[in-house]
Amino acid sequence: MAWDHQNGAGPVDDPVLFDTSVAHCARVYDYWLGGKDNFAADRAAAEQAIRDCPDIVPTARANRWFLARSVQFLAADAGIRQFLDIGTGIPTGNNTHEVAQAIAPGSRVVYVDNDPLVLTHARALLASHPDGATAYEEADLRDPELLLDRAAELLDFRRPVAVLLLAILHHVDDEDDPHKIVTTLMNAVPPGSYLVVSHPASDIGSEAAAKMAENLNEVMAEKTTARDHATVARFFDGLELVAPGLVRVSDWRPPAGANAGYPAAIWVGVARKQRC
Ligand SMILES: C[S@@+](CC[C@H](N)C(=O)[O-])C[C@H]1O[C@@H](n2cnc3c(N)ncnc32)[C@H](O)[C@@H]1O
Repeated sequence: MAWDHQNGAGPVDDPVLFDTSVAHCARVYDYWLGGKDNFAADRAAAEQAIRDCPDIVPTARANRWFLARSVQFLAADAGIRQFLDIGTGIPTGNNTHEVAQAIAPGSRVVYVDNDPLVLTHARALLASHPDGATAYEEADLRDPELLLDRAAELLDFRRPVAVLLLAILHHVDDEDDPHKIVTTLMNAVPPGSYLVVSHPASDIGSEAAAKMAENLNEVMAEKTTARDHATVARFFDGLELVAPGLVRVSDWRPPAGANAGYPAAIWVGVARKQRC
């Protein structure tokens, strides 16, 4: 499907059909964040997950918090002005362009998701500051070359780009080789670019999380694969992790007074591509 620039015509104006009888990860996540863009099947799956693993709600919120914190770091401290946010999700508070453009109004952001429901909300993502620009691309992470081709319509790949992969890589099965996908993306951006990853952890906590994943995999359209620290660390091969490294979400540059004992079972990291 074609994609749309800020205020342009295109897919956001087209009728979009999607199956509401099967739970979808974007809408289940929306429910955990307290959103209203979900249907009965999504709510049933989300509620079952909460029964299996009550920590999932603070975990989802901590992940969203990390998105805002990492984009703030990239825009304010690292001087990044271009963002490729893959697996955008249904718009909520602190969308990437809002955080980045509050610091650097000229920031350019390309959002990518493969959920047609996210597409119907693309207008909210296209409300760019006039000095910057945003675009929405309906595409699949498992086809990174196509995704990059389209993103190049708005982003200048001769200049640093932050590639954001937040809470999406666990929806890519091992057989689709998520590490190769990340390598393809990072090979396309120049030195000085960044990779941001958040990923559910298989080695923090609990049987509860494993049970939740097992049950979600029975009802949700996209499967979930939690991964351990070493496997998530491989996404950053060849890159330099910024402090504090690949850590639990609650330990990534927490603001003073934050609850460091947060139960969130997610590995997060931000890394810079160095010169060869
Ligand atoms: C759990 S949400 C995360 C949203 C946001 N990144 C965040 O962290 O707050 C995962 C998103 O990834 C999208 N997604 C899952 N698999 C995808 C794929 N193969 N290609 C593109 N988007 C995908 C889903 O549609 C959903 O919107």
